[in-house]
Amino acid sequence: MKLRAIEKILAIETSCDDTSVAIVRKDGWVDSLVSASQDKDHEIFGGIVPEIASRNHIHHLLPLVEIAFEKAKLTWNDIDAVCVTVEPGLMGSLLVGAVTAKTLAIAKEKPLLGVNHLEGHLLAPFLRDATYSPPENFNYPFVALAVSGGHTSLYWVEGLGKYKVLGHTIDDAAGEAFDKFAKVLGLGFPGGVLIDKHASGGDPTAFSFPRSLMQKGNLQFSFSGLKASGQREVEKFSKTELKKDLKNICASYQEAIVDTLLTKLDWAVKQECDGRQISRKAIITGGVSANSRLRAKAEEWAKTHNVQLVIPPIRYCTDNAAMIGYAGIQRMNQGEKSDAGMGVSASSTIVV
Ligand code: KG4
Ligand code: ZN
Repeated sequence: MKLRAIEKILAIETSCDDTSVAIVRKDGWVDSLVSASQDKDHEIFGGIVPEIASRNHIHHLLPLVEIAFEKAKLTWNDIDAVCVTVEPGLMGSLLVGAVTAKTLAIAKEKPLLGVNHLEGHLLAPFLRDATYSPPENFNYPFVALAVSGGHTSLYWVEGLGKYKVLGHTIDDAAGEAFDKFAKVLGLGFPGGVLIDKHASGGDPTAFSFPRSLMQKGNLQFSFSGLKASGQREVEKFSKTELKKDLKNICASYQEAIVDTLLTKLDWAVKQECDGRQISRKAIITGGVSANSRLRAKAEEWAKTHNVQLVIPPIRYCTDNAAMIGYAGIQRMNQGEKSDAGMGVSASSTIVV
């Protein structure tokens, strides 16, 4: 018997600190995407407190489900399935999403699927709405640079579920390097966006910060040396000097991260696309791809190196339920389904 295609899915994402709900169609069209940020609640601690994150998800999630329906002008009758992020992430946060999704699926008699968060990031370019759609001829295969607070990896994306890791960070993720340096500078939380803001108008060559593992062709990343070097540099300054040079130090630190990411993306594209003699295609995804300098330099690189580069809009790069919905609906239309015993995992089992 042929299974009925899933046309529209309700998706839930609570793997870290953002609570997000979306309704997505099988062609990637986003009917609604609503999220609640917890930045204000974690700010005074200078980082995410897992216990606070899961408690906040409990408060935000069901109201967001209602708002997602209202915004999409749809009801449960229009939804064919429910999906939710089940790995990787903070255990407490994941559990709130998974238990809620399971309960809703049972109560509303809809099929359910647990989705991998990283797969969501890798497929985010395929989302579409009134102001964004991927280029007409964009499709698999492509090189993906996934850069977030917890991950920095390069993948060869052959198709749905076919991901080969080309390299990843051996210590800190790029987002972590941004966040920790912002803390050292006393800028606050979340750090990446604050460094981006303060770097604007600064001189990226004012300070010389290290770029690690730069032997040609090495696709591994390391940001711990940069983090230590940033800290040492800041310790040399008095508070007044630091204030005076803040723009330059932020711009230079940001440049070291952007340079490293783009150099390795370039090597990966040459290795994979040129190696197979196919056209050069790449995506950048994950929270750090919101960085304005990374976006600008990546666009420039793509133009000069004949690469079809897709960087989804920021709403689909940072953690969001729409990308989970897209990954979920594709997998469900291949016949995948989770049962009531569906669990969660802090680490990633299908995409590493
Ligand atoms: O993908 P994401 O929303 O959550 C994770 O799965 O980690 O990424 C969050 C990370 C944080 O480290 C945050 O500082 C960083 O993305 N980020 C940025 C910018 N916006 C967010 N980093 C640099 N520049 C930005 N504009
Ligand atoms: Zn993420």
